[in-house]
Amino acid sequence: MLDKINQLVEEIKELKAASAEEAEQLRIKYLSKKGQVSQLFDEFKTIANEQKREVGKELNILKNKAQDKINQIKEEFAASAQSQVGLDLTLPGTSAPLGSRHPLSVVKNEIADIFGRLGFTIAEGPEIEDDHHVFEALNFPPEHPARDMQDTFFIATNPDVLLRTHTSSVQVRVMEKQQPPIRSIFPGRVFRNEAISARAHCIFHQVEGLFIDKNVSFADLKQTLLYFSKEMFGQDTKIRLRPSYFPFTEPSAEMDISCTLCGGKGCNVCKYTGWVEILGCGMVDPAVLKSNNIDSEAYTGFAFGMGIERITMLKYQIKDIRLFFENDVRFLEQFKSAH
Ligand code: DAH
Repeated sequence: MLDKINQLVEEIKELKAASAEEAEQLRIKYLSKKGQVSQLFDEFKTIANEQKREVGKELNILKNKAQDKINQIKEEFAASAQSQVGLDLTLPGTSAPLGSRHPLSVVKNEIADIFGRLGFTIAEGPEIEDDHHVFEALNFPPEHPARDMQDTFFIATNPDVLLRTHTSSVQVRVMEKQQPPIRSIFPGRVFRNEAISARAHCIFHQVEGLFIDKNVSFADLKQTLLYFSKEMFGQDTKIRLRPSYFPFTEPSAEMDISCTLCGGKGCNVCKYTGWVEILGCGMVDPAVLKSNNIDSEAYTGFAFGMGIERITMLKYQIKDIRLFFENDVRFLEQFKSAH
């Protein structure tokens, strides 16, 4: 009988099944009431008493081995069936992929944070505007050549309905509603009829700033922009103001910062000048205050306007403005940790 037991132990070691049904057949063949292992238990009753101890022990080992082996085969099929329908509740969950803010939002929020620390609040205005808010009230008379500086999209055939070319229009909307002191920034989307290239787009974003109060001077403008530049681009950043022209500011200036890539030594980003332009600014022209019913004798103010794409490209060394609008996740994912 021991031989038979050993033979079965060897046989069971090699058992295989190709399906859950075959595994069940194996159970019936060896472990059911009429199965081969059970038959040995029947036979066991007939052997001599002196042998019972030794044979009984081996028989139990056989039975355990057979049960373990067949259970193991059955479990393999059960697990693979579960994984096919995705129902293995013991697996750790897969985490949902985390999105990230768009780099333009990241930088817009940072600009808002920096000016927020200086007491600037945020206001917004409409993207579809009229001639009055985009041009007229900002001291661009009809036929003024400065209107050509900005290639305007007009809506339908009505020359009075247009897409705003700059966020300076929100200055007018705010002055209409509020008397000084005014200390706000106006972020938003603007539109210009320009050919799309690595450096220009027909849709982009600006942040406008306006500060009107008693005794506001050019020194306040300069100090505000210096603080902004250092916070945004690093404490070593230098600024430089170049005289310029905008109809709504007098005097007007364009502001450069020391090149973010070479620190001012000269490279291809700054075209070997050490400086890159980031915004336009100036003292609000008294004519603009007057046309918006603010007492230009009592109040003075400064304004500035910057492109968010430009700031973002300099800050993150992005070479092509089109990347912001392509929604390529490989580009966008790189801003995951930014706020
Ligand atoms: N609106 C100007 C532009 O889009 C930028 C600008 C220049 C805004 C000077 C200002 C300013 O507020 O004072 O080119």
